[in-house]
Amino acid sequence: MTDLKNDLFLRACKRLPVERTPIWVMRQAGRYLPEYRAIRKKADFLTMCKTPELAAEITLQPIDLIGVDAAIIFSDILVIPEAMGMHLEMHEGSGPVFPNPIRNEADAKSLKDIDPSIDLKYVLDAVALTKKELNQRVPLIGFSGSPWTLLSYMVEGQGSKNFSNVKNLIYSDPKLAHNLLDKIANAVSLYLNAKIEAGANAIQIFDTWGGILSQNDFEMFSLRYIEKIISEIKQKDIPVIVFAKGVHFSFSRLAECGADVIGLDWSMKIGDIRKEIGDKVALQGNMDPTILYAGHERIREEAVNILQSFGNGSGHIFNLGHGILPDIPPENLKALVKSVKEESVAFHSQ
Ligand code: CP3
Repeated sequence: MTDLKNDLFLRACKRLPVERTPIWVMRQAGRYLPEYRAIRKKADFLTMCKTPELAAEITLQPIDLIGVDAAIIFSDILVIPEAMGMHLEMHEGSGPVFPNPIRNEADAKSLKDIDPSIDLKYVLDAVALTKKELNQRVPLIGFSGSPWTLLSYMVEGQGSKNFSNVKNLIYSDPKLAHNLLDKIANAVSLYLNAKIEAGANAIQIFDTWGGILSQNDFEMFSLRYIEKIISEIKQKDIPVIVFAKGVHFSFSRLAECGADVIGLDWSMKIGDIRKEIGDKVALQGNMDPTILYAGHERIREEAVNILQSFGNGSGHIFNLGHGILPDIPPENLKALVKSVKEESVAFHSQ
């Protein structure tokens, strides 16, 4: 299928047989690694994203240091709104901020259509360079935010407690909200196709804020646009993962969205979800990220619980239920990876 030395992750995405369960971790290239913090001391976050040599180096850190089965390109979901013309600032401690959020039709008009080969060339260069430096060791995942999650940031201007501005928009001016979501979805489709052309072996769509919507609104304002993007991905053999946090009510609908893999947060038993949709899609997840504060034995126990809950056979990609936290000792993640590699063999023996 590919020239990759380790293609367990890609096979599991397609529910093909594997010798053991593959593992990677959301936010695996990040602040919990001293090697990341050393680079971060010398360059601010956006400079790191925009310098392909640095982005490639950071992407490779968890491959070399932790031994995960897939790399995810170091970047951020907010590079798309920035490419559409929004000024983005990264504030130390509090996270990303758009000082001029989108609140009305005139603001919306100021957003430009993007050409990824120009406006996001630095990401495509980072993908190509990372592929070269990976030298076929493991697959490379490209990613994007979902239109809904991107719109939430663009309208709120920053992280939010109750998302009143974006919710105000969808209920007071649904037409404008849909126009914006459509425009963002077009940008995301172009961007993901360009990332695949640059060398990404799989795609993950993060819908971090899908769970703040009711079931109907999730389907109308988020899932519909995720479906549109997936249908526009040109290379149909590239696995697509959809990670929508907090949307346990919609898994049967999510399983029909065209994704190969559905990512799960830690609020459910993976075995229950497998019974519901496991004959349609592969599942990714779903250990509580805070278990990594525990000792190595407890981490192993919890890994086995999740492997057992999923049960025998392929179609499981081990991951956390959300990103790894910045104060986790890297040795604990290493212990998790080792446990999954050893303990999962028994679930693939037939
Ligand atoms: O997973 C990876 O290792 C790849 C890199 C990656 C980053 N952000 C790097 C990052 C990915 C996949 C993301 C996605 C992302 N970015 C999401 C969706 C996933 C999720 O966690 O729900 C969201 C909502 C964002 C927006 C964002 N970027 C926030 C809210 C923050 C600040 C909070 C935080 O965790 O610091 C960022 C900054 C950011 N993105 C950092 C990293 C490593 C920290 C930057 C730093 O070094 O200060």
